[in-house]
Amino acid sequence: MCGIIGYTTRKNNSVEVALNGLKNLEYRGYDSSGIAFFDGQNVDIVKSKGKISNLDEKLATMNTDSCCAIAHTRWATHGEPNETNAHPHHVGDVTLVHNGIIENYAELKEELISKGYTFQSETDTEVATAYLDYCYKQTGDKLKALVEATKGLRGSYAFDVIYNDEPATIYATRKDSPLVIGYAHDGNFAASDISAILNYTNKYSLINEGEFVKITRDIVTFYDSDLNEIEKKSQTASWDAAQYQKNGYDHFMLKEIYEQPKAIAGIFDRYYTNCTYSDIDFKSFDKIHIVACGSAMHAALVGKYLLQTYGKIPVMVEVASEYRYNEELITPSTLLIVVSQSGETADTIAALRLAKEKGAYVVGIVNAVGSTISREVDKCIYTYAGPEIAVATTKGYTTQVAVFSTLALMAMKQNGVLTDEKAQEIKEDLLSIESKLQNVIDNRDLYLDIAKDIYTHNDVFFIGRGIDSAVCMEGSLKLKEISYTHSESYSAGELKHGTISLIEEGTPVISIATDEKLYEKTVSNIKETKARGSFSIFVTTDMHKDQCSEFSDKLVVLPKTTDFTEPILTVAALQLIAYETAKLRGCDIDKPRNLAKSVTVE
Ligand code: AGP
Repeated sequence: MCGIIGYTTRKNNSVEVALNGLKNLEYRGYDSSGIAFFDGQNVDIVKSKGKISNLDEKLATMNTDSCCAIAHTRWATHGEPNETNAHPHHVGDVTLVHNGIIENYAELKEELISKGYTFQSETDTEVATAYLDYCYKQTGDKLKALVEATKGLRGSYAFDVIYNDEPATIYATRKDSPLVIGYAHDGNFAASDISAILNYTNKYSLINEGEFVKITRDIVTFYDSDLNEIEKKSQTASWDAAQYQKNGYDHFMLKEIYEQPKAIAGIFDRYYTNCTYSDIDFKSFDKIHIVACGSAMHAALVGKYLLQTYGKIPVMVEVASEYRYNEELITPSTLLIVVSQSGETADTIAALRLAKEKGAYVVGIVNAVGSTISREVDKCIYTYAGPEIAVATTKGYTTQVAVFSTLALMAMKQNGVLTDEKAQEIKEDLLSIESKLQNVIDNRDLYLDIAKDIYTHNDVFFIGRGIDSAVCMEGSLKLKEISYTHSESYSAGELKHGTISLIEEGTPVISIATDEKLYEKTVSNIKETKARGSFSIFVTTDMHKDQCSEFSDKLVVLPKTTDFTEPILTVAALQLIAYETAKLRGCDIDKPRNLAKSVTVE
């Protein structure tokens, strides 16, 4: 979603630095961009639709020497992506950039029109800018104006603000949208996330909700909502700028797929071999809910299967956007597990806050260290996957699945159902995952071959049963989001209840059967689609590789492991089929249209 960066410096390069920062925020998703900078006399605003390179071109024709700039990438919510709606917005004495949504903008707009304000754009942000200008005119004080304005705004926001009469100082605040303050050698930053500033500094502080910040090139001062100064410690980011480079790969997505073997081995080492979270006592809760969005929800479905089937614990999985309005489900004896790569997903944050209000204990499975979710949960289990830049998650998802595997193993131990023999089998499985996963990923020619069979089709179906059904959902989402191919994922037994009417001559059906108990059932369902003309791509384990020529046109053979790792091997193959298909279709793989990496609005 929108990215913001503000930089005030002792040098004259704030525009260049802010633009570099914007480029590092591109992964969040955007459709226009803009910058405001102090040219020594005035605040200049330049905006452009589309890629940041368009903004770059416009700036190249200007003198951009400047000691202070605020810049923005916009992911359109209110009004189409065009220059008028792009940020920064300027009204009266105020120029600002905003990430979030102002929910009461329509009523505020009417009120401001009645006070004589006029509006150029369709955005909620221009209304917030006018409202702040109004508050500034009422209070005559920049910080007080910001405090007053936020009292009147409903919704989510991270703001970087500059005032006409103090254009080298940035004022900032946030609610439900992320913002970090960075401390560099030549100046200071306020940006959506650490990736925007890592080329210049790894020292930062987090702003809590209801806090306000005044940032000059020399000093950063934090205030509470009564404008008392507060002390803030700085932190050092463990991620570095090199992790934000493609390092020779064609796409971030491919690089991140290749980072999975190490990341997964790291999870098993940290959380299984050295079990660092054995303090979660499943027996002390009467129910477990797992809540997340998108791929993280798909990881939760694998988690549910493992916890129920092996840990013998009933689990409910729900998408966060629904769960957040379902308060009657939550009691003080509920264990809520929220799953989020970014740790900033608005619906997931709302779900966890609701559960905490209701007295539930909340565990987070989170990648981004220091993110909102990691800070607000009772216990955070980090996935330590490192920065994920491609909008389509890969290592983010598989590391979440790996954490669920270790949670299920812990539940088995707690419930006394982990026999020595089973423990040994699983241990061997976990210890050998790195090389097995590497082999699956290295089978690139096969995935390209399969992609050639499907990239001209408009519809693809994924089917599987049990744990494979959960993995199908992720495989289908990957294909949709990066290749823009319509695809649907079905429990294999469910297809015949309606959707099979869509299968016609040549329709690609990707079926997964790694679960021994359900293998024959799934094969019957594949045959039903074959009988109706489907092109069958079959994903199974090496136990069945010689028995499937009758119903598979293309075959992906995976090493047979246990359910604690098999979904990770399976999904890696599906990630690469989606990747190669998107490449053949000429799609923008790392930044698919309409999508945002971090969905910070409801
Ligand atoms: C998947 O590739 C996505 N881009 C998306 O579904 C994502 O998983 C979802 O928005 C949740 O994000 P989170 O893990 O950062 O909370």
